[in-house]
Amino acid sequence: MADISIDAVAKRYGDTTIIDRLSLDIRHGEFFTLLGPSGCGKTTLLRMIAGFVTPDEGRIVIDGQDVTRLPAHKRETGMVFQDYALFPDKTVFDNTAYGLRVRRFSAADVKHKVGQILDRVELGHLQHRYPGELSGGQRQRVALARALVIEPRVLLMDEPLSNLDAKLRIQMRDVIRQLQQELDITAIFVTHDQEEALSMSDRIALLRNGRIDQLDTPEGLYARPGTSYAADFIGAANLIKIDSVQSDGDAGHVMVNGARLTLPQQEIDGDVCLAARPEHISLRDAADQGDNDVPGEVIYRRYLGFKAAYSVRLGDGQTVTVDVYSAQDPVYAPGAKVALRFESGCRLVRA
Ligand SMILES: Nc1ncnc2c1ncn2[C@@H]1O[C@H](COP(=O)(O)OP(=O)(O)OP(=O)(O)O)[C@@H](O)[C@H]1O
Ligand SMILES: [Mg+2]
Repeated sequence: MADISIDAVAKRYGDTTIIDRLSLDIRHGEFFTLLGPSGCGKTTLLRMIAGFVTPDEGRIVIDGQDVTRLPAHKRETGMVFQDYALFPDKTVFDNTAYGLRVRRFSAADVKHKVGQILDRVELGHLQHRYPGELSGGQRQRVALARALVIEPRVLLMDEPLSNLDAKLRIQMRDVIRQLQQELDITAIFVTHDQEEALSMSDRIALLRNGRIDQLDTPEGLYARPGTSYAADFIGAANLIKIDSVQSDGDAGHVMVNGARLTLPQQEIDGDVCLAARPEHISLRDAADQGDNDVPGEVIYRRYLGFKAAYSVRLGDGQTVTVDVYSAQDPVYAPGAKVALRFESGCRLVRA
């Protein structure tokens, strides 16, 4: 187990800043995720922690030890790559044994440790196979076993599930999370998949252009996004333009399409918009429009079994998605005049 401190780390390629003086602290035993879209710098940051890329500025400290200039193999980190990077001409056993042999463990220790970790990832019976004779999920587990067998201080994983089919991806989330908990190891996980991040992590750093946009628990990021970027990236919120904002003590008043909405007060300055998740808006007949309601017209309704997703157009042409869960609710046809009620989960965020 380790705690990791990343202190004002910067990386540039030519004139382009990839990681922009980024700082963060990861705790002992934490499952920490770097989340963000393609190109935001996740792999670069992970590889700096692993020691494969050298920062231009800043420090990386593992367990109180400054490792910024330490070569990768001396950092005691285990890495799982997106394409697994297994040796094709080595068996499952020899792939897994690699790190132990480099560290000159005795043959008896290698046999014991490899046997143990392969049993743990349920590959004991396949130890004589070659990577080419394994399924994607099995290869992924060899990569995990190879990273873990050296009992690293930190397990680093770069999109380890992205080559698996949808069902296996979801199963492997639980396998990785359980293994991390059981071994009580600090883990840093890279993904661009928000659902993967929410379901596996203790905390998530949402990255944007080499900086942290928001660092929070999964619940915090979902319930209290601070920016339109976070609200949109995690769970796809409606981002609704507002005409004006006023605050008085503990309430904020927002004008949307000429209707006045009252939201719990949030301190916020600069350009703001209203982030409203589809499940935080309800629909009613236009005739029943009340406070906190904005009029709209149904464009279409998609029936999805457990819910229906409506697209509703506001007076100024903005389109809003609304999820309706209850089978009891009236079905609104395209063209129906409705009122949208913005429930308390809706928030003002920085635009
Ligand atoms: N060795 C390099 N030389 C020049 N530019 C690089 C190098 N490595 C990465 N980059 C650039 O740095 C940016 C961030 O790359 P990085 O691989 O960290 O992104 P990422 O967040 O992991 O993206 P993805 O989700 O696609 O894997 C990209 O624009 C990439 O082109
Ligand atoms: Mg990457």
